[in-house]
Amino acid sequence: MSLLRTDGLTKQFGGLVAVDDVSFEVDSGETRAVIGPNGAGKSTLINCITGALDPTAGSVEFAGADITDLSPHETVQSGISKSFQTASIFPSMTVEENVQIAALAAEHGSFRFDFLKRLSGFDAVHDTTDRMLSAVELLGDADLEAGSLPYGDKRRLEIAIALASEPDLLLMDEPTAGMSPDETAATVDLVEDLQEDLGLTILIVEHDMEVIFRISDRILVLNRGQVIADGTPEQVQDSEDVQEAYLGGVEL
Ligand SMILES: Nc1ncnc2c1ncn2[C@@H]1O[C@H](COP(=O)(O)OP(=O)(O)OP(=O)(O)O)[C@@H](O)[C@H]1O
Ligand SMILES: [Mg+2]
Repeated sequence: MSLLRTDGLTKQFGGLVAVDDVSFEVDSGETRAVIGPNGAGKSTLINCITGALDPTAGSVEFAGADITDLSPHETVQSGISKSFQTASIFPSMTVEENVQIAALAAEHGSFRFDFLKRLSGFDAVHDTTDRMLSAVELLGDADLEAGSLPYGDKRRLEIAIALASEPDLLLMDEPTAGMSPDETAATVDLVEDLQEDLGLTILIVEHDMEVIFRISDRILVLNRGQVIADGTPEQVQDSEDVQEAYLGGVEL
């Protein structure tokens, strides 16, 4: 069953068509990848889905509802969350507080910092925070200052922050960028576990082809904003259009 569907999604920046008439679906429970050379429109596509960008044309449907015109916050409340890179961490707060704030924000729309002092009253927030920290294996580090975590752990905290709204669909834009091979392997394992343990549907943009071919059920390939292939890893690997698009320098 399709959980997310775009129809003719298009985003222009002036004369540049960054996302060009993209129609694709994400089925419930699958790990769906978006790949393509630099500048292909992958991040723009994701940002049109989250509401961070307003599409020029086309629509986005999620769980049967039209979410094309929702704000980023409304999109989160509808059940879609995006894992941001380290910019969304509050470094001087603890690991636990970072996830609590995200859980609160998801529940209440906005939050004030003094809410934190009264957090002990919010059982649901505590439960969610513990579950998500344990899902990313950071429960033991809950009381550490977030800024003191090693890079790979910070990225896992980012994922826990994204999970705090208890999304049905998790969007990830290059989650292993800048990671060491060990951190990459751990993150890939984590993504696989999350899907199983939390029943998540995942839409992931990733440059590392080994990662993509290992974890994806289906892969959407963009080039210059357009869909040039869409199918299983095997189908995509065999596509001549895909091989051609990648001849420009990015290794497949
Ligand atoms: N806010 C913006 N204003 C103008 N042009 C933009 C904007 N954001 C992206 N672009 C352009 O749109 C095109 C697609 O960019 P996008 O970031 O979506 O590509 P990408 O596939 O994510 O690339 P990368 O692999 O480098 O992350 C590029 O030509 C980019 O320069
Ligand atoms: Mg990008």
